[in-house]
Amino acid sequence: GIVPAFGQVPPLKKKDHYKVGFAQTESNNPWRLAQTASMKDEAAKRGDQLVYTDAAGSAAKQVADVNSMIAQGVDFIFLAPREEKPLATAVLNARRAGIPVLAIDRDLDQAIAKRGQDYLAFIGSNFIQEGQRVGDWTIAKTGGKGKIIELEGTIGSSPANDRKKGFDDTIKAKAPDMVILASQSGDFARDKGRQVAETLLQAHPDATIVYAHNDEMALGAIAAIEAAGKVPGKDILVVSIDGEKDALQAIVDGKLGCSCECNPRFGPAAFDILYKYAAGETIPPSIINPDHFYDASNAAAALPTAY
Ligand code: AHR
Repeated sequence: GIVPAFGQVPPLKKKDHYKVGFAQTESNNPWRLAQTASMKDEAAKRGDQLVYTDAAGSAAKQVADVNSMIAQGVDFIFLAPREEKPLATAVLNARRAGIPVLAIDRDLDQAIAKRGQDYLAFIGSNFIQEGQRVGDWTIAKTGGKGKIIELEGTIGSSPANDRKKGFDDTIKAKAPDMVILASQSGDFARDKGRQVAETLLQAHPDATIVYAHNDEMALGAIAAIEAAGKVPGKDILVVSIDGEKDALQAIVDGKLGCSCECNPRFGPAAFDILYKYAAGETIPPSIINPDHFYDASNAAAALPTAY
């Protein structure tokens, strides 16, 4: 690639087909598998060569994966950054090598790498708004009363930071009778979510609500609630984010209250951005996906197309 002037995203030559990298975070849940499938399908459809890496939940490995893509001379990198800071540094390496990067689904620390300058853009959900929407739904459902356990996502990731902010600020501002008893990371994983929920439920037997930053941890929490001899959906209201198939089923079964959608199917939009950029179109630095919202009123209808 061509190394650009300071503060400019590297240019991309117009070609029919590209060699592109996709640096995935991990593959331990349906959301990630759906995202990877969408990227691979789209690359195949367009006849682009995809260099795919899976960081297996390690930011250090993902930095190494990006560096290896740079060494292999890819034209463009799609990056789903595990954590905001370490991967922002990797993006600077790509920029210095003249390779444009598009951050998909999670964003990077703007103090280290800037959208529209160091990397092309971010495309994904508004995580703050997701947290706010779950907060508003929970307040409406409970009449603004309840004691909350919060299961946070991966420490240092943009969805964990923003989903916490959106939810916590909403509760503080709108529900003076609600309290967040404890908040701890379950790393966006079902098993870790179950373990953390088990510990926190034991420490706080008066909890009436679990807010999980994703469905996998919510499903783990439901298992922990049942193991503790309580009834999810009756004794304890569980609310979360993503809209994956198992979660929609849990809503239908009355075990999960709601799930704000976070769409993992990035392939078509991500590759569109690459081709538009190469064609000289201006790419907005931040492209926000609209999210649906699921509860008992619409979860069953969404099940057939869920992942
Ligand atoms: O970055 C998006 C989040 O990452 C999804 O909500 C979660 O399930 C995934 O691990």
